[in-house]
Amino acid sequence: MQDDNALIKAAISARHAAYAPYSNFPVGAAILDEKGRIHHGQNVENAAYPNGICAETSAIAMMIQQGGTRIVKIAVSGGDGELLCTPCGGCRQRIREFASQDTPILICDANGLQDRFTLGQLLPHSFGPENLD
Ligand code: THU
Repeated sequence: MQDDNALIKAAISARHAAYAPYSNFPVGAAILDEKGRIHHGQNVENAAYPNGICAETSAIAMMIQQGGTRIVKIAVSGGDGELLCTPCGGCRQRIREFASQDTPILICDANGLQDRFTLGQLLPHSFGPENLD
């Protein structure tokens, strides 16, 4: 799909801005929001390792900063094409806050799309905002 290609390109391009001197594992992420806009982010590591943030987390922060409220689709680009770079557990939960069970998560390497999942596949039976209504 055309909008998939734009999102995938944005995730791959964001990966080039990663600050990942410790892991040497750059990751980029791109979110399509409910207004049709794309927000991108990259991992930002820290000498005090646990303070690093994932690409998905920085892309979510950019979406919120721009007034976006829903993740319609998200693409993540990491790794060299062997193992899939799926969002970590913490980022699955962060995505969950602004997405639905059927929200597509596109998994990419540096060259393009490798696989796709829904959020419900990656984070089944999850806890979310409705639990607190
Ligand atoms: N990382 C991400 O940014 N997103 C993922 O989906 C997986 C892992 C980052 C965190 C850390 O900077 C590096 O990749 C190695 O774990």
